[in-house]
Amino acid sequence: MSDSPVTTHDPNADDTPAEASPQEQKKMEQAYAQMKRKMSMEEIGKKIKHKVMVLSGKGGVGKSTVSTGLALSLAQQGLSVGILDIDITGPNVPKMMGLDGQRLHVESGRIHPAKGHLGVKVISMAFLLDSEDTPVVWRGPIKLGAIQQFIGDVEWGNLDYLIIDFPPGTSDEPLTVAQSLPDIDGMVIVTTPQEVALLDSRKSITFSESLKVPVLGVVENMSGYTISGKAPPGSDIEIAAPAGKTLKTTANDAGEFSVTLDIFKKGGGKLTAEEFGVPFLGALPFDPGFVRGGDDGVHRIVSEPEGPSAVAFAAIVAALQDQIIEEPGAGLEII
Ligand SMILES: Nc1ncnc2c1ncn2[C@@H]1O[C@H](COP(=O)(O)OP(=O)(O)OP(=O)(O)O)[C@@H](O)[C@H]1O
Ligand SMILES: [Mg+2]
Repeated sequence: MSDSPVTTHDPNADDTPAEASPQEQKKMEQAYAQMKRKMSMEEIGKKIKHKVMVLSGKGGVGKSTVSTGLALSLAQQGLSVGILDIDITGPNVPKMMGLDGQRLHVESGRIHPAKGHLGVKVISMAFLLDSEDTPVVWRGPIKLGAIQQFIGDVEWGNLDYLIIDFPPGTSDEPLTVAQSLPDIDGMVIVTTPQEVALLDSRKSITFSESLKVPVLGVVENMSGYTISGKAPPGSDIEIAAPAGKTLKTTANDAGEFSVTLDIFKKGGGKLTAEEFGVPFLGALPFDPGFVRGGDDGVHRIVSEPEGPSAVAFAAIVAALQDQIIEEPGAGLEII
């Protein structure tokens, strides 16, 4: 006797599978694509040990400078690092990373990041532009969809750190990223010592609470401009500074002097951090080399790997790493 299952057949039943309507077909395809993307985001989440968002309330305070600096400083430690540049309307990370004019490399349906200075992997919306003069004007839903696609479809490989650079303001982009990418360690808030920027960075901190992503700390950028020089040992130096100020110092026994001009107010980032009970990660000096680096594509950390700005970044990175618990999956406390 055969042990195959006994099936009964109702001759009146209609066995032909119902044809899906084009709309149903489209819905199924969308659901499938979404499921695949969700799985790939989870996979990405596992392969990337730490994910750090860089935000500010106000534009032009140095988010991209800080994002690229953090990434390069971590890479200087020998870690594998990536940067995701979310700024669709004004992406300038590729330029800072020496990748101007690069295009995306797609293989087996996966987007492969470009490799910038010190092997840092870079994905930027700029890679989608025909020319750098083409402004990308994408409406909200398209923009957010593109961001999700970018996150889900990029083949980062294993990374110790992914730094995510955002456009200015507390807009939809950080929300989309926070909802899409699992286990974000937290955010770094960039501010300048000015009062307006400070007010805006306070907004970012409040925003972080609504995102449920902890603040890892505040970085004060363009903190002071240091002038160094040589003069006969022991001589008094007076330098005329803007706003009628005079900077005074004395040359040391080796005939060297240096004075720091606080272009904006000083210590504001620290005050904001204290006020909100979040860590202050450190200050970055005003360094014209950042502007040059933005123009000629050689980042300050690469042109002067042991210069004052690289040293300041290393200290900020050390403070950041202190905030990040090394065990994967372990939570983070806001201090
Ligand atoms: N510490 C610094 N010293 C001197 N120049 C700086 C410093 N930090 C940033 N800059 C310069 O200020 C300008 C703005 O910096 P950056 O592009 O990093 O700001 P952003 O916050 O990313 O701007 P956006 O809001 O447009 O994205 C750039 O020209 C950059 O080179
Ligand atoms: Mg920027």
